[in-house]
Amino acid sequence: MNVLLLGSGGREHALAWAIAASPLLDKLYCAPGNAGIAEVATCVPLDITDHAALAAFCKENRIDLVVVGPEAPLVAGVADDLTAAGIKVFGPSREAARLEGSKGFTKDLCRDLGIPTAAYGRFSDAAAAKAFARKQKLPVVVKADGLAAGKGVVIAETYAEAEEAIDACFGGTFGAAGAEIVIEEFLDGEEASFFALIDGKTALPLGAAQDHKRAFDGDKGPNTGGMGAYSPAPVMTPEMTERVMAEIIRPVVAGMAARGTPYKGVLFAGLMITPEGPKLIEFNVRFGDPECQVLMMRLKSDLLAAVLAACDGVLDNFSLRWHDDAVLTVVMAAQGYPGTPVKGTEIRGLEHAAQVEGVEIFHAGTRRDGSRLIANGGRVLNITARGRTVTEARDRAYEAIARIDWAEGFYRKDIGWRAIARERSAS
Ligand code: AMP
Ligand code: GLY
Repeated sequence: MNVLLLGSGGREHALAWAIAASPLLDKLYCAPGNAGIAEVATCVPLDITDHAALAAFCKENRIDLVVVGPEAPLVAGVADDLTAAGIKVFGPSREAARLEGSKGFTKDLCRDLGIPTAAYGRFSDAAAAKAFARKQKLPVVVKADGLAAGKGVVIAETYAEAEEAIDACFGGTFGAAGAEIVIEEFLDGEEASFFALIDGKTALPLGAAQDHKRAFDGDKGPNTGGMGAYSPAPVMTPEMTERVMAEIIRPVVAGMAARGTPYKGVLFAGLMITPEGPKLIEFNVRFGDPECQVLMMRLKSDLLAAVLAACDGVLDNFSLRWHDDAVLTVVMAAQGYPGTPVKGTEIRGLEHAAQVEGVEIFHAGTRRDGSRLIANGGRVLNITARGRTVTEARDRAYEAIARIDWAEGFYRKDIGWRAIARERSAS
């Protein structure tokens, strides 16, 4: 079959790598893709916000399935528009994508379904929001309702900071995404990213990962899309996984079906594992980036077969197999990220780096200039390695990084520290 993948990051390179390995695949296209994706797929310069152009491309190239990487096209209804044009799509409808597109919608749904999450209020005017914030314990969390590329969350340590965040949000910092605000209780615990594959009624666990959100070592510096990840996540024991499925995932799948907006695709639950149990921080309607990269290297089953089973509503007859290995990825970013990254610098030594045992290099923001590889984004490379333990995977990833010649890049040197400390104290 022919597949079109939408997106251009490290997540999409990992998805392309997994789909390219499927015996079901004839031809893989990716729009718009990047230099790494071009090694496993044909990249096409389509505008992915132009759904009519996507549908026309699919017809011309006999595309049997479209796989959507990022959230924005889903929230904009790409699955609805392509489905209406008779094209099979992996990813939720516009209505189902509200699980990521509106934090207020999701909080109300959790309340109605009894899903454990932080206590909250929803506001569309600053005075009421500030009055509510002042009554909360500190720190208090202020969030823009809509999509804000991961920048719409402020954990305010003082009421003055909360008020500043409220004013910034209503002042238009996040455009339409900030026209409504959610204010919520701060949850204390260990974070984990949990993934499930969903066909509208059945949910299959895809495993868990832990991400490092801050830019610098020691979990310092600004928030980013994620500077590294590893899987499995030690905090997600089999018992905790079953609790998350029973208390969060299965209720939301049933709740979305009952509203007449069944959820199909990957559901990503951002969790806080608290002393009382798992609590939902947020849902995302897609794979995490860079969590996807580690999950794809752990997946033994055919990703394309699993995705088709989810599209066709037959996951109840499906099971997934996983490698026992741990996988860890380190993000190499361009200096300036997450602000304004330096673009256009040359990266050398990737071929030599990729020879380290167990290593795959996924490209997140690269382009080719003749034979030169050029950095073309904030997050640029994901150096991903498998090992028997997180410690071994970490050592391999950093050995590969040492072979890469890119003075204008930076990366965290402590990815996996929590799991590695656990492994050290267990041995
Ligand atoms: P979100 O975009 O909702 O995932 O929030 C970004 C990050 O902010 C999360 O990964 C958490 O680290 C943090 N965060 C969001 N909401 C809360 C909360 N209620 N309590 C503690 N941390 C939070
Ligand atoms: N790494 C977190 C995310 O993809 O949102």
